[in-house]
Amino acid sequence: MIQCAEAIIEFKDGLVFKRRIRKRYRIKEIDERIRKERTRSEAKLISEARRRGIPTPIIFDIFDYTLVMERIEGDLVREVITPRISEQIGELVGKLHRNGIIHGDLTTSNLILGSDNILYLIDFGLSFFDSSIEAMGVDVHVFFQSLKATCKSWKELKESFIKGYTRSLPDAPQVLTRVSEIEQRGRYVARKK
Ligand SMILES: Nc1ncnc2c1ncn2[C@@H]1O[C@H](COP(=O)(O)OP(=O)(O)OP(=O)(O)O)[C@@H](O)[C@H]1O
Ligand SMILES: [Mg+2]
Repeated sequence: MIQCAEAIIEFKDGLVFKRRIRKRYRIKEIDERIRKERTRSEAKLISEARRRGIPTPIIFDIFDYTLVMERIEGDLVREVITPRISEQIGELVGKLHRNGIIHGDLTTSNLILGSDNILYLIDFGLSFFDSSIEAMGVDVHVFFQSLKATCKSWKELKESFIKGYTRSLPDAPQVLTRVSEIEQRGRYVARKK
């Protein structure tokens, strides 16, 4: 069992049960609505991505605040990332963006390198449909932040990601320009504090 910020993850019979837990600081009715909505929306986005050829877990069931899905056997990308894998992630995220899907929480813990050597995206709780340069830019920015936070060789990994992303998405140059602007905004805010 894994307890995360928003959910409890349980593994049983090759399946994953992801149950969204109550947040005490939210009014009960609102809390229930949010949890139901996020569960439903996560199931929808995981399935939509899969339909478009992006490897994600198969969704088997959904009830109340619980998602039942296929367990992906493999390693968290955080533990095994190399420049080659980062380039593949770039290609995968490019494909996701080409299909108008924003992941919303692109971190190295939300990608699994399967035992079948296929890269899987998981955790679509914050995902949504959007094809704007800004939304794609924020997605890529979040991924770069996660590289910085978890990998010593983040600069090299960032370059590899860019290689794959650019190959896979025609709009990549505009998105990457926006990512630099978002980084600048971040610095400005940090200085002002
Ligand atoms: N389908 C799956 N197959 C294998 N492992 C999974 C699967 N879904 C979730 N996990 C494991 O459970 C962890 C947490 O799942 P997930 O990221 O979906 O939940 P979360 O509540 O959003 O987590 P966090 O609070 O860390 O963002 C993942 O990092 C992964 O290790
Ligand atoms: Mg997660």
